[in-house]
Amino acid sequence: MGTQRPNEETSGTGRRALLGAAVLGAGGAVLGMAGTARADGARPGGGPGGYGVQGGLKSLPKPTIVGHRGASGYRPEHTFGSYQLALDLGADIVEAGDLVPTKDGHLVCRHEPEIGGTTDVADHPEFADRKKTKLLDGVSTTGWFTEDFTLAELKTLRAIERIPANRPHNTLYNGRWEIPTFEEVLKWQDEQTRARGKQVWIYPELKHPTYFRKQGLPLEERVAKLLGKHRKDRRTSPVIIQSFEPTSIERLNKLVDNPLVVLLSSADSRPWDFVETGDPRTVADLVKPAGLREIASYAQGIGPTLDLVIPRDAKGSLTQPTTLVRDAHKVGLILHPWTLRNENPFLPANFRKGTDADAYGDVFGAYQAYFATGIDGVFTDQPDTGVLAREDFVGH
Ligand code: G3P
Ligand code: CA
Repeated sequence: MGTQRPNEETSGTGRRALLGAAVLGAGGAVLGMAGTARADGARPGGGPGGYGVQGGLKSLPKPTIVGHRGASGYRPEHTFGSYQLALDLGADIVEAGDLVPTKDGHLVCRHEPEIGGTTDVADHPEFADRKKTKLLDGVSTTGWFTEDFTLAELKTLRAIERIPANRPHNTLYNGRWEIPTFEEVLKWQDEQTRARGKQVWIYPELKHPTYFRKQGLPLEERVAKLLGKHRKDRRTSPVIIQSFEPTSIERLNKLVDNPLVVLLSSADSRPWDFVETGDPRTVADLVKPAGLREIASYAQGIGPTLDLVIPRDAKGSLTQPTTLVRDAHKVGLILHPWTLRNENPFLPANFRKGTDADAYGDVFGAYQAYFATGIDGVFTDQPDTGVLAREDFVGH
């Protein structure tokens, strides 16, 4: 699996199957109609560990709106500016963050270890000699890598907009925010929960766990240690953990009790841990009933690409939904597909308006098509759009 995934960025146009029936109700589609009421009746602040801990996943509104890399449609991704805005815009969970390690073993929030496109590192002559070409999960990648920097060095950098062709307005904020650490995120989560009187959820993703383990920088143990330190490693903790590598989620399942989600890229892709261990299976195998049953033995959900839920035809328009939602729900797995974005290039062709790369298409129409499949939530770069779309949906 490379680092570029379907439904991914472009500047062109072109432990516990706890959820099971209790969460899913009589059927997946029912979730969408359950509205935004708390299913657990938990009172804010009740119980050890913070707000609404009794409910865990069950306390989340459905369909759940996940702020992808914060509110990355409006601010440079994986910054506290982006995370903060995601909450302000109504996200139920903030993807804070995609986690990669530093040379001295800290976890920081960047979408990829290569940070040339998301920071001003190229403008720092003192780091010019750190530019390298590496094989990252089988893909030759040139740039600057977090594992070659200490945390103190990374903290001298500032975040920039990754896709300015699609999001020119976001460049206004270039240079404003530094790279967050995961520990800062955990503290921010508590501060925001107190300030808002409402439990703030986060959804960190472990990036390239096999790649980093081979370099002596394993991610799972570091994440587990920090979650334990902050008492957020429990079944009801407001932290969902995700990874594209199933064996990483299996490993986490032995270390923490948090809800766990296996990410699934395109059907023909093969998780990188499978490549390294010689497991021949592809995502097409994992989405079959046997594959889903296996995932349900150590995870609570899957995060499929939207195309696995509703494939597109040769022109890029939506076709008919697959059986994935039904099949996953059958074995007690929730589904949080990715990623809905307002801009034309990221939408199915039949929901685009014109051809401008930074113009919005009919994203509300797209939301209704995906919500109708019975998905439990969705990652989006524009959480306010997602919240409005949910209102439309549950109001039907
Ligand atoms: O984590 C859900 C989604 O973010 C997966 O893709 O590449 O944006 O991290 P990516
Ligand atoms: Ca992610």
